[in-house]
Amino acid sequence: MSAIDQVQVDVHLGDADLAAALRSDVGNGLLLPQKELPPKWLYDERGSDLFDQITRLEEYYPTEAEREILLRHATTIIERADADTIVELGAGTSDKTRALLDAGRDHGSLRRFVPFDVSEEFLRVTATTFAEKYPGLEVHGVVGDFDRHLGQIPDGGRRMIVLLGGTIGNYPTVARKEFLRQMVAGMIPGDRLLLGTDLVKDPARLVLAYDDPQGVTAAFNKNVLQVINRELGGHFDLDQFDHVATWDPIEEWMDLGLRSRIDQQVSVDDLDLMVDFERGEYLRTEVSAKFRLASLADELASVGLHVEQWMTDSAGDYAVSLSVGR
Ligand code: SAH
Ligand code: TRP
Repeated sequence: MSAIDQVQVDVHLGDADLAAALRSDVGNGLLLPQKELPPKWLYDERGSDLFDQITRLEEYYPTEAEREILLRHATTIIERADADTIVELGAGTSDKTRALLDAGRDHGSLRRFVPFDVSEEFLRVTATTFAEKYPGLEVHGVVGDFDRHLGQIPDGGRRMIVLLGGTIGNYPTVARKEFLRQMVAGMIPGDRLLLGTDLVKDPARLVLAYDDPQGVTAAFNKNVLQVINRELGGHFDLDQFDHVATWDPIEEWMDLGLRSRIDQQVSVDDLDLMVDFERGEYLRTEVSAKFRLASLADELASVGLHVEQWMTDSAGDYAVSLSVGR
């Protein structure tokens, strides 16, 4: 099988579909009393590239913590799950996932990799790169939105669903439960969930991880305004907003957003929209929840998932759990 024959990419989010979803999210989100935008719009090609740079920052510890865990435990994870398919939700570059694919190749059960992401450009690169690197592995990419296309994940065989990078924490509490429920609804007995979760820790370290001195995270966050300017004829001046990363001790999440530096009016031509920002007004772009093991176990149990294996990095910063449905 040549690398080309190994790869298939299903696109459930075409240009027209994406454009319609962006229009509705921006139109709704900017008119809310507390302005907000869904995080998925952070990840156009430039945003995905900036996120990849974030993962290499000294301050952004989750990536290396998760890599340490996966490298150490890949073999036991693969043996326990005994999956023929690894589905990776929010795959991005799937860089850390190579530890699992390597172990899967050695174990012999793995025959298919299904990276799923909203970002088509990155997904295509990941799919072809992995087909070349893993001869004989079927790579079936899915371009879709977690909130609409989980049902389009190819079935057949035993699957391990992988969700890394703390991405689950980007759902606020209520939406998170709904997302987990949807995911579990698509699992059959024996399917596993491998979940990466960042843990509650010293707020100073958290703030630094989401507001690095080089300004990469600020550029990543502000890029969402650039997406609106480009796709919807917006007139945001990126210099009139500050990137803000705050620890919320009640919700136990990092609250990420942009704060208007001045009183301003911004028009979005394609929506016939004029948005008022007061000086200091906040536009939330994402939350990143941090977890505690006991409440996470309860949360997983509430959707019918039982944790078989907990794994943490040596510093105790980050956890990966392997769960099975019951
Ligand atoms: N798994 C990688 C990337 C994490 S960043 C890592 O661990 O480093 C989150 C990823 O999820 C991005 O690649 C982004 O494009 C994707 N994503 C975010 N929201 C999404 C959504 N609603 N549907 C599908 N993918 C989404
Ligand atoms: N999933 C990543 C996280 O929660 C996303 C992320 C990292 C992020 N840095 C960010 C989102 C800054 C918005 C702003 O850690």
